Amino acid sequence: MAAIKDAAESLVAGNLVAFPTETVYGLGANAFNEKAVTRIYETKGRPTNHPLIVHISSTDKLDNWAKDIPKYAIKLARNFWPGPMTLVLPKTESAKDFITGGQNNVGIRVPEHTVALALIKEFEAQGGYGIAAPSANRFGKVSPTSAVDVKTELIDHLKSDDLILDGGASFVGLESTIIDCTKITPVILRPGAITAAMINDLLGIQVDAISKDNPDFIRAPGLLESHYSPIAKVYLSGNPSTGDGFIALSKHSTPDGVIRLIAPANNEEYARTLYQGLRLADSKMLSKVFVVAPTGDDIAVAICDRLKKAAYKG
Ligand code: TXA
Ligand code: MG
Repeated sequence: MAAIKDAAESLVAGNLVAFPTETVYGLGANAFNEKAVTRIYETKGRPTNHPLIVHISSTDKLDNWAKDIPKYAIKLARNFWPGPMTLVLPKTESAKDFITGGQNNVGIRVPEHTVALALIKEFEAQGGYGIAAPSANRFGKVSPTSAVDVKTELIDHLKSDDLILDGGASFVGLESTIIDCTKITPVILRPGAITAAMINDLLGIQVDAISKDNPDFIRAPGLLESHYSPIAKVYLSGNPSTGDGFIALSKHSTPDGVIRLIAPANNEEYARTLYQGLRLADSKMLSKVFVVAPTGDDIAVAICDRLKKAAYKG
């Protein structure tokens, strides 16, 4: 596909390429190119002490970036990659301070989306080692799950040589599960589609659904007051009034006069459409959105995590 080849060449030349993944769209740069990586931070308006995830094409390439990899991490990689999971591992010399925020570990992911994988493979074929990519949104805002979302977020900040690859709507819709693999047992830093139950089943150990007191947590998303936030104020309790937005599973009916933003049939669809619903609130210029959070130990955990961070803390 010409678009993939052009995009890989653009990365090699030091430009930014926004690309689809199954979780959310990423804003990619050659992970070896400090200037290009610096532009990621500028384009997002993100503080530079927030490390970036390096995207590679397969578990076989992990040794380029990570060393002293615990056996359980290999097992996680073999089972859940390509897929919506990021492993934080002790870094090799390849992962520079401008990727890791000066830490001695690095976040690595093999995404599943065919366009993402094709791009990484082509980039590797052209001599690249990994694509550094955060979510392609302005800092603190809702992650993009379509090419149009990326444009809405970044059009004023991208340069003419930067590219946006369109791969349709992200089919998971929430960012990857981040697992800290630098300790004796894994610790979930950010919940996602790979759940604690799936990790427990695979490894036969008990992992908490989300770490609350992990010292690395400051490096992970969400400690900041406002994250994953639309302009509209998000409320997780209370009753909507006429003209307010409403997000809930389809089994909950829409209160009179209230604007239904999404009505997903199940938790997977909830995850897939949540960010679209929050963006819709902003395009309709709503000032308040009331949300009925889902329950369960599946992807509901990740949905609730993002909702809590999006919620208005006035
Ligand atoms: O699904 C995803 O993970 C998407 C797609 C594009 O792959 N990427 C993504 O990246 O969500 P980002 O940068 O928006 O969120 C990753 C979070 C950041 O807040 C960062 O602080 C944290 O993961 N992180 C990255 N590397 C880390 C590391 N070595 N240790 C701890 N946290 C890390
Ligand atoms: Mg992000």
